[in-house]
Amino acid sequence: MSTVIAVAPGRVNLIGEHTDYNGGLCLPFAIGLGTTATLTTRRDRRLSIDSDRGEVWTGTWDDVVRQDVNGWAAYVAGVLWAMAEDGWEVPGLDIAITTTLPLGGGLSSSAALECSVALAVAALSRPDRDRDERMRLAEACRRAETEYVGAPTGGMDQLASLLATPDHGVLIDFADPTAPRVHDVELGFDAASLAVLVTDTGVRHALADGDGGYAQRRAECEAFAADPATSERTLAARGRHVRTESDRVRRTVEALRTRDWSTVGELMTASHASLRDDFEVSCAELDTSVDAALAAGASGARMTGGGFGGCSIALVARDDVDRVAAAIGRSYEARGWPAPAHHVVSPGAGARLHQ
Ligand code: GLA
Repeated sequence: MSTVIAVAPGRVNLIGEHTDYNGGLCLPFAIGLGTTATLTTRRDRRLSIDSDRGEVWTGTWDDVVRQDVNGWAAYVAGVLWAMAEDGWEVPGLDIAITTTLPLGGGLSSSAALECSVALAVAALSRPDRDRDERMRLAEACRRAETEYVGAPTGGMDQLASLLATPDHGVLIDFADPTAPRVHDVELGFDAASLAVLVTDTGVRHALADGDGGYAQRRAECEAFAADPATSERTLAARGRHVRTESDRVRRTVEALRTRDWSTVGELMTASHASLRDDFEVSCAELDTSVDAALAAGASGARMTGGGFGGCSIALVARDDVDRVAAAIGRSYEARGWPAPAHHVVSPGAGARLHQ
């Protein structure tokens, strides 16, 4: 019997939202909050999946193959299933999960869960994983989420969690969706005395919810791609967001290169406006935190992740973090909403093994 421990981070997307399943660009970075998977091999073929946030699931490999696993454990079972399909040896396992991420909060708690399990299973065969192999693991995790759990997500979160490096964003180009191209982009927030303030609205979405807006947006984007000359206003607005958003990512990368922080901030804020007005995935709580952060002096602010709740981010001078967070808190209080949670995040490392 052997034990392997892997930790995988959540992510914040700096800019480039709803572009991953539309052949576009995005620029996420890994954060310090994450998920730890401890895997112990068993002599039989049984599986147990336990977590600090849910009930233990026990079963057999047959249950996994029959897709007879529900709730959060399905994300783990889906990874085992996808990796076995890819030819990995998956033995009987006792799996224990702990996390510091808010669940369903727009910081990719599901990708962190998938990637921690995937890296640990891979390490049972061989400990070093080069970048290409990590890309294949990310694809297995994406398939787990899309084909096993049934949440039609795009692939950004898993690549960010597995490939991020400290102080860098992961620029992902999905022009060829079957072979995304990945580059590290230096962010330099720390050296510029800037911080990224995350505000968790407390509003929760479920990407796996069939009636949810995420699946609907995907369908609308497909309809637009099939007829880009459409006169249907909603579809045209969805298409406009996707096109302008990739362009904003390109300009953000340029602005980062020259440390032009006011342009980075303006592009973030423009991204939010496009997600609010053209893509219509924001909500009152996200808009309020963005507006309050900007009024309190943030260089830029936007929702991050799929939307319909979750988190916003604001780029602020390090010394202003408390002041901006307090201003957001007051704007929630004025509307009678529960106080939002805040996290200050910096671009950290991707998934790794604990020796
Ligand atoms: C969720 C999905 C990602 C991506 C974002 C929106 O986080 O998991 O694949 O589509 O929404 O950019």
